[in-house]
Amino acid sequence: MRTIDWVDGAVELVDQTLLPGKCVMLRIHTVEELVDAIRRLAVRGAPALGVAGALGVVLADGDLAAIAALRAARPTAVNLAWGVDRAAAHLSGGREAVLAAALRVRDDDIAACRAMGERGADLLEGDRLRIMTVCNTGGLAAVERGTALGVVQTLHERGRLAEVLALETRPLLQGARLTTWELARMGAPHRLIADSAGPYLLAKGQVDAVLIGADRIAANGDTANKIGSYALALGAERAGVPFVVVAPESTIDPATPSGEHIEIEDRGAEEIVTIGGTRLAPEGTRALNPAFDVTPHDLITAIVTDQRVIRP
Ligand code: MRU
Repeated sequence: MRTIDWVDGAVELVDQTLLPGKCVMLRIHTVEELVDAIRRLAVRGAPALGVAGALGVVLADGDLAAIAALRAARPTAVNLAWGVDRAAAHLSGGREAVLAAALRVRDDDIAACRAMGERGADLLEGDRLRIMTVCNTGGLAAVERGTALGVVQTLHERGRLAEVLALETRPLLQGARLTTWELARMGAPHRLIADSAGPYLLAKGQVDAVLIGADRIAANGDTANKIGSYALALGAERAGVPFVVVAPESTIDPATPSGEHIEIEDRGAEEIVTIGGTRLAPEGTRALNPAFDVTPHDLITAIVTDQRVIRP
């Protein structure tokens, strides 16, 4: 199954807001619908956003204001703007040229995720690995296979995976809803943990490596990823556990010198004061909701891309 694709003149994507209960494909015909799908996280994860951006330029049919709105639909994952720009560079060639460029972004993602899976599995030492991860970095965050979870998939295929400890990932529960769903489909052993249990389980020696994805990697290696990643990096450093970022080259943003320049999306109070539509906190409670944090490069053991291993 592909998470996102171009099918019969429209963008087709899995509506991730309905998983794990229902697996429904959405057919998207306009940029407006696509921007809405991106904002409500029906499609999410940096590589999938790159493909959505590129395919969205085909839907825009030369409308520059629509292309600008698409590019700005979410600010942190650089892949969205990168995918839009890759397709938009072919606007002068007409719709067929834009479509061909967008399909290359899709195909490059499929190849890049396969390469990252192999390279990441080669990098890690040990036969029966216990991996900790946050958010969802699997096929649902890309096209076919994922980034950090792509490495997990390759380890599992090679018979080297003992277990995955998946953080639930409040507030939108990408770990609890999506990563568990993907791991179950892979037949990979896993247990779900509360986000706050991560550093404790690292300290207890229950993890051999932390693998995370990335939304934007600054020129100095500082990495923005789902909120909670930084706490895991601190816990991993203290416990002497490798902390590995897995992301395609397209997530590296040389125009951003360091993490403090990365715009972190704040998704508003509603996602914090409610859960699954049920109110948690008293009426009137104010909240902060940074969707991502930044891990400084000195806490990162290695960055695995589709082309190389970078050691900050
Ligand atoms: O808010 P999300 O679900 O789009 O956040 C996704 C993440 O933080 C992922 O870890 C990142 O995009 C890498 S996905 C391979």
